Amino acid sequence: MTQAKKFAVLPGDGIGREVIPQAVKVLAASGAPVETTELDWGANRYLADGTTVPADGFSMLAREFDAILVGAFGDPRVPTNIHAKEILLGMRFRLDLYANVRPVRLLDASLCPLKGVEPKDVDFVVIRENTEGVYVDAGGVFKQGTEDEVAVQEDINTRKGVERVIRYAFDYCQKHTKLDGSRRAKVLMCDKSNAMSYAGGLWQRVYKEISGEYPQTKAEHMYVDALCMQMVRDPRQFDVIVTNNMFGDIMTDLAAGLQGGLGMAASGNIHPGRTSMFEPVHGSAPPIAGKNVANPMGAILTVAMMLNHLGLAEEAAKIEAAVLEAVRQKKTTQDVGGALGTKEVGEWVAQRVAGK
Ligand code: NAD
Ligand code: IPM
Ligand code: MN
Repeated sequence: MTQAKKFAVLPGDGIGREVIPQAVKVLAASGAPVETTELDWGANRYLADGTTVPADGFSMLAREFDAILVGAFGDPRVPTNIHAKEILLGMRFRLDLYANVRPVRLLDASLCPLKGVEPKDVDFVVIRENTEGVYVDAGGVFKQGTEDEVAVQEDINTRKGVERVIRYAFDYCQKHTKLDGSRRAKVLMCDKSNAMSYAGGLWQRVYKEISGEYPQTKAEHMYVDALCMQMVRDPRQFDVIVTNNMFGDIMTDLAAGLQGGLGMAASGNIHPGRTSMFEPVHGSAPPIAGKNVANPMGAILTVAMMLNHLGLAEEAAKIEAAVLEAVRQKKTTQDVGGALGTKEVGEWVAQRVAGK
C-alpha cells in the first residue's frame, strides 16, 4: 500500500478560512492517500498570544510534511501585516521555495473579459523568482520624519538565484504540455533592463547562457511594461514566462483577470525535492470575508497542483475535470457568473469528484 502523503494545512485569515475547508473537502473526496494536519498560524493566533511562527515552525514543516496548503494572510486588525510577512514570506524564504509557479488557464470563454478569446488561447504559466528581489526587504530610512527623509529599498539579485529560476523555467517548458496535449515550446524572460541595468544585466547574461543549453526551446524577451500591454491585447502568444519576484507578483494578478479573476488562480511555491507550499493567488479579501461568497476554485485547483506535484496525477485530473464541469454548468460563485455560495460550490465539486 502507498504510504499516505502528509499535508500541513494553514487556512490563515479572511477568505482563506472559507476556501481552504472546501479545498480540503474536495481533496478528501478524491480519495488521494493524504493525511491533513491543520495549523492555526494567522492573525487570530497572533492577536491572542503574539505568535506569528511558533519556535521551530519552519523546520517542523520541512521535517514532518510532504507539502503545505495555505489560504491567505492579511487582516485589518494587524495593520503592520507582520504576521503575513513572517509566515508567508518566511515560508518562501526559509524553505527556499525559489520557483513560484502560477499557471494561467482560461477554463471557459465566458470567464474572460476579452472578446473572442477561448480556452485554447490562454494557457501559459508564469514562473516567478520567489526568494530575492525587492522582497528581501533590505534597505532603510534616514532622517525619518524630516523633509530630508530618505528611503532605500534594495533589489537583491544573485547569480545563483537568477540561474536556478531560469533553469527551472526551461525544464518546466520541456516537461509540461498544454491542456490540449500540445508541447510547450517558448520561454520568455521579462525584465526592465532598459532602466534597471545592474539587475537587468545579470538577468540578461544568465538568460543568454542558460537558453543556449536548451536549443530546442525558443528564448524570447520582453520588457515588463510592454508585456502587460501584450497580455491584454493578445494572450495567445505566451507559453512560459520567467521573471523576478515583484514583476511576477504584479503580472499574475493581471493574468488572473484573464482567467475570470483572482478567485480562479492557483499557485505553487516550489523547491524541487523539498517540502513545497501551495496557495491560491488571491489574498484574504477582507471586504468579502465571512459572507460565503468567496470563490473556492483557486484553492481547489491549488490542491490539484499539489497532487500533481506529488505524483498523484489521477486524483488531480479528477479534481480539474470537476472544476471544469462546474464552470461549464455555472455551479460557481457570483464573481464568475454563478449563484452559489462558497460552501455550495465546494460541495458540488466534491460530489462530482467522488462520482456521486
Ligand atoms: P485580495 O486578493 O485579497 O483581494 C482583492 C479583491 O479581489 C477582493 O476584495 C475581492 O473582490 C477579489 N477576490 C479575491 N479573491 C477572491 C475570491 N476567492 N473570490 C472572489 N473574489 C475574490 O487582495 P488585496 O485586497 O490587495 O489584499 C487583501 C489582504 O490579503 C492584504 O492583507 C494582502 O496583503 C493580503 N494578501 C495575501 C496573500 C497571501 O497570503 N497569499 C496574497 C495577496 C494578498
Ligand atoms: C502574493 C501576495 C504576496 C506577494 C503578498 C501578500 C506579500 O500578493 O502571493 O501574490 O506579494 O507575494
Ligand atoms: Mn500578489
